[in-house]
Amino acid sequence: MAISTTINGKTVSLTSDPDTPLLWAIRDDLKLTGTKFGCGMAECGACTIFVDGVPQRSCVTPIESIEGAEITTIEAIDSKEAKAIQQAWQELEVAQCGYCQSGQIMSATGLLMENPKPTNEDIDDAMSGNVCRCATYVRIRQAIHRASEIMEG
Ligand code: FES
Ligand code: FES
Repeated sequence: MAISTTINGKTVSLTSDPDTPLLWAIRDDLKLTGTKFGCGMAECGACTIFVDGVPQRSCVTPIESIEGAEITTIEAIDSKEAKAIQQAWQELEVAQCGYCQSGQIMSATGLLMENPKPTNEDIDDAMSGNVCRCATYVRIRQAIHRASEIMEG
């Protein structure tokens, strides 16, 4: 049975097994490769996407659970929070190898959507599920503060 959902503003019909992780539908079927595979167990955050505007780990999200939902991937985020995060990431040259960064950006954008002026503690809490092998954590925190300033104008 096909599962109908909206991904990056387009209605799509997913025909894989219902328990297929959304990550594979996004990467293999839809060729949206900005979303990364890391651990496959909801422990690294590399695969973070938005489901109805809320960050979620696509590696443990079966496609049957997203029937009728609005999915957004790194390729399509364009809210004011996302734009501020992207600008701050570039200004502070956050990325090293870059592998974890789409997941970091999705989580950071989700944080600013909920809390436009986060403290260090808020940032550490919100970002604790996103692992970076290159240890860019200090710059990520600075960049989230910078994005918050950018949004204030
Ligand atoms: S690949 Fe999904 S959390 Fe690691
Ligand atoms: S920038 Fe390399 S894993 Fe995070």
